[in-house]
Amino acid sequence: MAYQNIGLEIQDGVAVVTINRPKVLNALSPDTLKELGQAVAEIRSTEEARVMVITGAGDKAFVAGADISEFPKMNALEAKHFAEEGQKVFFALEELPIPVIACVNGFALGGGCEMAMSCDFIYASDQAKFGQPEINLGIIPGFGGTQRLSRLVGRAKAKELCMTGDQISAQEAKDLGLVARVFPHDELKDSVMKTAKKMASKGRVALRAVKQVVDRGVEVDLKTGCAFEAEAFATSFVSQDAKEGATAFLEKRKPEFKGTFTS
Ligand code: COA
Repeated sequence: MAYQNIGLEIQDGVAVVTINRPKVLNALSPDTLKELGQAVAEIRSTEEARVMVITGAGDKAFVAGADISEFPKMNALEAKHFAEEGQKVFFALEELPIPVIACVNGFALGGGCEMAMSCDFIYASDQAKFGQPEINLGIIPGFGGTQRLSRLVGRAKAKELCMTGDQISAQEAKDLGLVARVFPHDELKDSVMKTAKKMASKGRVALRAVKQVVDRGVEVDLKTGCAFEAEAFATSFVSQDAKEGATAFLEKRKPEFKGTFTS
């Protein structure tokens, strides 16, 4: 499918989505969000994509937020619709059954920070900045920011960030648990691709199981979470990839995971 505001390339099992509006620091317009939703659906429907990476075009920004130039046109009802559409796309991203890495190459503000938080984990450039600056515009985050941020960094820190609108460095974001790893700016993309390709070589059923069990488990009590884990353990146990994993170990060779869903 042809996209105007984003790029999508799938290579060696890794789908790379690039938000491509560098002149406005990759701000998310309604059309860009719509295309992102379409790209996520496209990735979901192809077995070729085993891992997804999302990043921003240019050297300065991942995504500097929702496109503020659209705001003056919106009334309250349209604003609610915009928030709901953004939330829908970010839920689709979060619920993709493959790992998704946010490759944060610069500003991840507002909707950019919210988009990164909808990924499985964040790798950031040492030049990246994170924040929820909506308060400086007299509004609040609308694409899940108040909710995902508080779940990731705790309520007090989430409130501080959303109430001050302050930007924090990649290292501060890592110290808070928002970012998994920080890389020198020039090494970020190669490091992300290295991890993405490593995960793409693993068993698809097991990758999906890790993602679903962790995500569902944090919403429930420990025993219920462990029950989810036991179910998913059994599902992974009877996959073709599990047979290949054990056989390869016993034959002292590298496993070749096919990544099929069938058992
Ligand atoms: N929506 C629309 N346009 C945006 C944008 C956004 N969220 N963020 C940046 N841009 C545009 C700027 O208007 C500017 O356009 P221009 O060249 O036509 O003037 C261009 O991107 C470059 O941004 P600029 O502000 O000149 O860069 P900077 O390096 O001085 O500052 C930021 C970078 C990210 C600190 C600043 O752009 C900013 O604060 N952006 C808004 C962040 C925000 O509030 N996001 C949440 C929105 S709900």
